[in-house]
Amino acid sequence: MNGAQNLLVRVVENRRLTSEILQLRMEVAPDWGPPAPGQFVQVECLPDRPFSLRRPFSIARFRRLEDRAELHLVYAPVGDGTREMARLAPGDAVTLVGPLGRGFRPVRDRVPVLVGGGRGIAPMLMLSDSFHREHPKGMILFGVRRSGQLYELTDVPFPVRIATEDGSAGFHGNVIQLLDELLVTRKITPDGHALYACGPNPMLHALSDWAARHGFPCQVSLETLFGCGFGICAGCAVPVRSGDEETSDEFGRYRFACIDGPVFEGDRIDWEGVRE
Ligand SMILES: Cc1cc2nc3c(=O)[nH]c(=O)nc-3n(C[C@H](O)[C@H](O)[C@H](O)COP(=O)(O)OP(=O)(O)OC[C@H]3O[C@@H](n4cnc5c(N)ncnc54)[C@H](O)[C@@H]3O)c2cc1C
Ligand code: FES
Repeated sequence: MNGAQNLLVRVVENRRLTSEILQLRMEVAPDWGPPAPGQFVQVECLPDRPFSLRRPFSIARFRRLEDRAELHLVYAPVGDGTREMARLAPGDAVTLVGPLGRGFRPVRDRVPVLVGGGRGIAPMLMLSDSFHREHPKGMILFGVRRSGQLYELTDVPFPVRIATEDGSAGFHGNVIQLLDELLVTRKITPDGHALYACGPNPMLHALSDWAARHGFPCQVSLETLFGCGFGICAGCAVPVRSGDEETSDEFGRYRFACIDGPVFEGDRIDWEGVRE
């Protein structure tokens, strides 16, 4: 299980950031982790329901304080588990497993462009923390469909460009159209920048195609459906293009998002077979 530990942690704060997004801060032991950007934790959201599966969440932030550490998640209540999570209050106990998975791998000598779609902004926060010393000129593109998913990104080391599909704030359009603008105005170039992204699968698919068309390195953090979260059930199998040697199944067609990912090179995914 990647050396991950099963942990009992305490809620410090569970705060609404927008009508659709919350932030959960939890206190963890000071020697936990440290997690790498793009890794995730499996949270027991429904402890009172027998046989319920833990739910995966990207690690949004990890902070070591004097005698403790804090783990932050940014999440949307979309079903039973996450709605139960939204009821957690300071002092409540939560069980989780992690850190799990393979995170983002920095591309050398390229300025990072971090692209978050909706709740997919979560891992970009921690990634920006890790990049800012080496690449002070990085940028974050935060794309949302509507203003209910938008919140102010405070405490990030990079400038943030917002794109809203309903035109309620920032650039009017999606993040691909924003990337088009940045390319045309030469604010980003294929030999100077690398893309790192998390968001809904249709966005990641379009972004990976865009990056391949224009010659940008591009890594994406996939949100597939998970079962176990550590390589046993094959519930998270992701189809990959032929020629990829490192596959998890004996036929060489799939990788497991929970142990081989959730971060993959965008051009290695066989997007036609990914659930959208
Ligand atoms: C590696 C990884 C990282 C993730 N990080 C975050 C995060 O930082 N913040 C966040 O809000 N969510 C994140 N998710 C998605 C999150 O795990 C699901 O929203 C959650 O499991 C839903 O649980 P539920 O019981 O509330 O909903 P369910 O009742 O299980 O499902 C409600 C709806 O959400 C859909 N759904 C369930 N799981 C997923 C999934 N994995 N991807 C897309 N749709 C799903 C279902 O099809 C259904 O339509 C991540 C998923 C993965 C795989
Ligand atoms: S979720 Fe079970 S193998 Fe990946």
